[in-house]
Amino acid sequence: MSSSTMAETSAIRSRARTTGEIEVGKAVAEAIKNGAPSIDPALLPRLRDLGPLNITENVHAINSMCPNPRQKFVFEKLVTHLHDFTREVSLTTEEWMLAIEFLTATGKICSDIRQEFILLSDILGLSCLVDSMNHPSMPPATEGTVLGPFFTQDAADLKAGESIASEGKGEYMWCEGRVLDTQGNPVPNCTIETWETDNEGLYDTQYEGRTVADCRGRLKSDANGYYSYRAVLPTPYPIPNDGPVGRLLKTLNRHVFRPAHLHTMLVAKGYETLITALYFKGDQFLESDAVFGVKSSLVVEPKLVTDETKAKALGFKHGPYWHLEKDYVLLTLKQADEQKRKSLKNYYSSLK
Ligand SMILES: [Fe+2]
Repeated sequence: MSSSTMAETSAIRSRARTTGEIEVGKAVAEAIKNGAPSIDPALLPRLRDLGPLNITENVHAINSMCPNPRQKFVFEKLVTHLHDFTREVSLTTEEWMLAIEFLTATGKICSDIRQEFILLSDILGLSCLVDSMNHPSMPPATEGTVLGPFFTQDAADLKAGESIASEGKGEYMWCEGRVLDTQGNPVPNCTIETWETDNEGLYDTQYEGRTVADCRGRLKSDANGYYSYRAVLPTPYPIPNDGPVGRLLKTLNRHVFRPAHLHTMLVAKGYETLITALYFKGDQFLESDAVFGVKSSLVVEPKLVTDETKAKALGFKHGPYWHLEKDYVLLTLKQADEQKRKSLKNYYSSLK
């Protein structure tokens, strides 16, 4: 035990002797030694005889010592709403335990390549809410949308024009465009991460025995902001429904489908990172996306090109291919910050 821990334990013991309280033993000393905060109990609010009418104010009282003002504020609101929710729905012990078991199962199924908590956030509309509050639209900047649970860090670095998808993964698609600022100037050296399903509606991470990334890639915009890569036309897919979130959706009588989309994340120095996705006109799930990600400005309509010569010149084995041309417009960090402040201010004033 360190000398400071010994001193703290000794102080608690001597106070216990003075006040007649029960002395602390090895367990308390060990916990303090292992980093548990050693707050003087004499300074704490008296937490006794708590129930539906006074539990909330007492949890606020004990949390009020938090030194981080933002955390203190967020926790006060969290506890307030959580307790109000519990009282409002008269939550039963069985329902509370069901929720605990659900969250436990959600955690257990998570892995390096499966993020069930993001999926849960998605289907609750929380991801959409957080994203749209923190990245309000500001034309002509490209709108953002939900990240989704299928992003991985291991996409291969590609050169312009290379393919993110291995052969046989679907109908060919040629993607090109420019990365620009809101004035129309090119944004060079922007890192573009992109990922999509294959023609079976599956991400590479959903296949057994995945060893390398497929249908995902990382490339850079050139000096003119131009980017290009080969991909495949993505298809609609069910969000993972073999886990707790899927079972929850079934009980809610909700479908589990997402319209086809091409995810993109753009990262450039001095600009706000843009996490977005492109959706395809005519998709039957555009209006009922299970994770609430579709925005009209992100719906695209690639053109079919049947010219074999053009297809081969771009590196495809044959024609036809879909041509998807899309410019991405980024906000500077300053623009994004100002827009977010303005949007949150409007949001708060609308609540008054
Ligand atoms: Fe997706």
